[in-house]
Amino acid sequence: MIENRFSAAAKTYDRHARPQLALAQSLISILPEIDPKQILELGAGTGQLTRLLAEQFPEVPIDAIDVAEKMVEHSRTRFKSFPQISWVVGDAQTYQNDTRYPLIISSSALHWVSDLQKTYENIFRNLEPGGTFALGMMLRGTLKELHQLRREIAPGNIPELSLPTYEETKTSLQSAGFSLERRKHSEEEIIYPDAKAFLRAIHEQGVTGGKVSKGNAPLSRNELNQLITNYQKSFASDRGVYATYETATFLLTK
Ligand SMILES: C[S@@+](CC[C@H](N)C(=O)[O-])C[C@H]1O[C@@H](n2cnc3c(N)ncnc32)[C@H](O)[C@@H]1O
Repeated sequence: MIENRFSAAAKTYDRHARPQLALAQSLISILPEIDPKQILELGAGTGQLTRLLAEQFPEVPIDAIDVAEKMVEHSRTRFKSFPQISWVVGDAQTYQNDTRYPLIISSSALHWVSDLQKTYENIFRNLEPGGTFALGMMLRGTLKELHQLRREIAPGNIPELSLPTYEETKTSLQSAGFSLERRKHSEEEIIYPDAKAFLRAIHEQGVTGGKVSKGNAPLSRNELNQLITNYQKSFASDRGVYATYETATFLLTK
């Protein structure tokens, strides 16, 4: 289950999460001049975005929600000197409390939920009228080189689902009721020292589990060795190997 995969990665995630940190920073940079009285963050994980939020809004209470219990425990301990942050185990698809939030934010997390449309509708309900929803998403082109090789090496064992596209995301957000104020869509190649280091990094980020990246069964040792060799050959760059990350940030209002 996805929560177990992320619970296992709680201690190693940050060292390997450069693309996620870049997306969180980009999301903070598009926030308008606002003075929210409370913030809800969904899929807060190890708190990369939560830390940036706490720096930007030092007086504002933040409810940081994550579905992985161990992630929440880890972050609660790590952030104990930040009394403004409440760490809560909860599912972004169904999370509700008595509050309507003026700012809801989420980065590199919602592509993991099984029903994105339901999640956007739930977020819309949790947002106060006039409130802001800031969303950072990993999109379909993310790790496309790896997905291509996987399809070649193990055609009968390909992931059940794929990440949403930019257009799908925009359409679902609008049909959930949001008005789109700003958006930024980008594709970036990240360089890793070699194919093994790249696979280790994505495993430590917690992105090798789940229906978007794992087939019915793990790759065999042979398939894995073939994947490493072919990745090294096919996606070499001057300083190692490259991997694409396609991301978008959306600034929305109710
Ligand atoms: C890649 S991490 C990103 C963490 C953080 N937002 C960041 O930018 O570094 C994704 C997080 O989303 C959480 N997550 C996945 N599905 C979720 C759901 N349905 N509800 C809440 N959190 C979820 C995972 O447990 C994980 O901690």
